[in-house]
Amino acid sequence: MAVTSQELEVLSTKAIAAKATAYCPYSKFQVGACILTTSGEFITGANVENAAYPVGTCAERVAFGTAVVAGHKDFKALAVATNISPPASPCGMCRQFIREFTGPDFPVFMYDGEGNHKMMTMDELLPDSFGPDQLK
Ligand code: THU
Repeated sequence: MAVTSQELEVLSTKAIAAKATAYCPYSKFQVGACILTTSGEFITGANVENAAYPVGTCAERVAFGTAVVAGHKDFKALAVATNISPPASPCGMCRQFIREFTGPDFPVFMYDGEGNHKMMTMDELLPDSFGPDQLK
């Protein structure tokens, strides 16, 4: 089901606010994320870096990991917010991570520092993807 303008308003506000929760002393590149579950809950995340650089985690994976361990498996939309323009899109590792829990039409809304956004579906972000169905 399509995301309503009311839901998108909350989703974007929470993703943008989540940037402030980032732990990014090395890159200083804040990323906030918010997921809307099909049950109507909003779950946020932000990037968490590490002194051993590759160990750091992106905002999207923090948000999806948080949602999944809270018992959510069905998701309606994701918003990702950074301070750059044009807005950043999820990295390759995050695209695969998100793919695990979403279908091809799942919308990813990407926000820049001014609150402008673009939207791409998961199929656009990760075409011909490998997913759980391949292991059945
Ligand atoms: N980052 C994210 O949180 N999400 C992305 O999709 C791209 C990159 C983070 C990782 C790192 O903390 C910082 O942005 C700079 O790469």
